Amino acid sequence: MVNIAVLGYGTVGSGVVEVIHTNKEIIDKRAGQEIRIKYVLDLRDFPGDPVEQILTHDFNVILKDEEVKVVVEVMGGVEPAYTFVKQCIQAGKSVATSNKELVAAHGPELLALAKDHMVNFLFEASAGGGIPIIRPLNSSITADEVTEITGILNGTTNYILTKMANEGADYADVLAQAQKLGYAERNPEADVEGGDACRKIAILSSIVYGKNLDYTTIHTEGITNITKEDFQYAKVLDAAIKLVGTTKLTDGVLYSFVAPMMLDSRHPLSGIDDVFNGIFVHGNVLDDVMFYGRGAGKLPTASAVVSDVVDAVKHMGKNIMTIWDAEPLEIGDFSQAVNRFFVRTASDSEETVKEIFGDVEFVDAGISSEKAFLTKTMTEGSFAVLKNRLADVKNVIRVAF
Ligand code: HSE
Repeated sequence: MVNIAVLGYGTVGSGVVEVIHTNKEIIDKRAGQEIRIKYVLDLRDFPGDPVEQILTHDFNVILKDEEVKVVVEVMGGVEPAYTFVKQCIQAGKSVATSNKELVAAHGPELLALAKDHMVNFLFEASAGGGIPIIRPLNSSITADEVTEITGILNGTTNYILTKMANEGADYADVLAQAQKLGYAERNPEADVEGGDACRKIAILSSIVYGKNLDYTTIHTEGITNITKEDFQYAKVLDAAIKLVGTTKLTDGVLYSFVAPMMLDSRHPLSGIDDVFNGIFVHGNVLDDVMFYGRGAGKLPTASAVVSDVVDAVKHMGKNIMTIWDAEPLEIGDFSQAVNRFFVRTASDSEETVKEIFGDVEFVDAGISSEKAFLTKTMTEGSFAVLKNRLADVKNVIRVAF
């Protein structure tokens, strides 16, 4: 029997307890031995919840208990999670976490520490929610030079954008629904401003390339500027608007960014709706591969966390080799990334637009108060210069067609 502890009894923590109880027989069989939750740590009390019997408010009880071999960290945020996880690893306990803030900020250090202590630091749920993606990137896609990893990596924003597109729903109402469903972060700014997707593409890219992609260096835009008019144009263009995180090799340089994009209906990520996430990977010999599933929510996220617990139990005494060095992953200056742009402008005439951008494709969605057009592909830097010559830009969305 292996004793484990769960740090945090919020959405994911309570999901982990539920999954371990619901699928006990299957999980124990797959782990090769019984998994017993000995403690749940939370500052709060949960009167009437059976968790009361194993609830502790004192992290040191868990840290000092040598019977606890695996610790699940699902508190979120960098501190105190970082300190707790570090101490657990140093005490010879494996850690499974869903905490993308922690993994993006301290991944290489915690992996190295786990290696030194012959335990494991596992984080399948930190990107893509319930989708198996970290393990496949680390263990399966090992024969390829990966030239692109692009994903819809935030369930909350995908849920919001889908409802706005299909139901003309109001942004604030849908965000409130996403919070109620347990998809959104405590402070949903990380979802809607792109910070969550940014950390996730940093984690995935670091695993793919074996070096640390510092998430703070990734150009990141969220969805807060997207309006119902943008969806009217997207409809005319037979496109979906999705918040995308991407790292792509172009002319030998890796470019990484997070931004809303218009994806035409043939794009592999365009049909991924609601809370689902999708991750597209291109390898030079594998070609295209897609991963799809629920990107947020209590049980799907808990499923990924528990799969890490099982892996930790299966590999007790052995460190699973995961290459994510602290050495920085070089990425190109964003101003040199090449994109195509959809632009809406309020007071510039078609002549002015053509004078500035040359040959463009105008898009008519029946909104008489503005002009909208698609540029040719150009660098971000060139676009920024040309855009500044327009008098009254209402919105810009990059397009993938
Ligand atoms: N808030 C996150 C999302 C949770 O919506 O994707 C899963 O990481």
